[in-house]
Amino acid sequence: MPFITFEGIDGSGKSSLIGLLAEALRAKGLKVETTQEPGGTVLGKELREMLLRTTGAAPCPETELLIYEADRAQHVQTKILPLLKQDYWVLSDRFYDSSTAFQGAGRKIKKSVVEWLNKFAAQGLKPDVTVLVDCDVEVGQARMAGRGEADRFEQEKADFHQRVRKEYLAIAKKEKKRFFVISSENATPQALAEKTLKEFKKRKLLK
Ligand code: TYD
Repeated sequence: MPFITFEGIDGSGKSSLIGLLAEALRAKGLKVETTQEPGGTVLGKELREMLLRTTGAAPCPETELLIYEADRAQHVQTKILPLLKQDYWVLSDRFYDSSTAFQGAGRKIKKSVVEWLNKFAAQGLKPDVTVLVDCDVEVGQARMAGRGEADRFEQEKADFHQRVRKEYLAIAKKEKKRFFVISSENATPQALAEKTLKEFKKRKLLK
């Protein structure tokens, strides 16, 4: 069954898109499970807390990367692969492209290191499709401002998020086959969901 990942800067609107897609796919009688990184597993929830809290000790960039990869290894082996084997469509809110964009471009960790760790954690699993929900950094930040307290990443300055966005667009350009890029500026979540379902049909994942 397809493994679909959703990527984007903070505030891009991917979470509401995932909810609507899951609903639409379930309505077609498909088995669908949504999940997320970090925090898709029980152990992952503990790691997520360490990664995003704004009080207490903050991890240095290298530690941060390793914790994301630890979360990912646990996620792939104990949740994603078993679900795919049971014929579930798995929709993941973030996967390894997040590490390339946030720890690689955002934190400026050498790309080859991030990519090696991504492969190690994913154990050969590759998304069938990656939906990049793209929007301007200011638009994403305005959306986040309307939410609760900012986490460690949401507190980063605009140029950090600009580097992340630029990297996402560069990966999408390099991996045209895997990526589907949609703009969430001036688009309702419903319109984004419809476009994405059309794309799944075009890719013969859906009838
Ligand atoms: P989350 O609250 O799930 O944000 P969002 O709804 O935007 O996905 O927080 C996840 C944060 O972790 C987000 O700011 C991106 C960051 N992140 C990384 O830096 N590296 C990674 O590998 C992953 C999976 C997430």
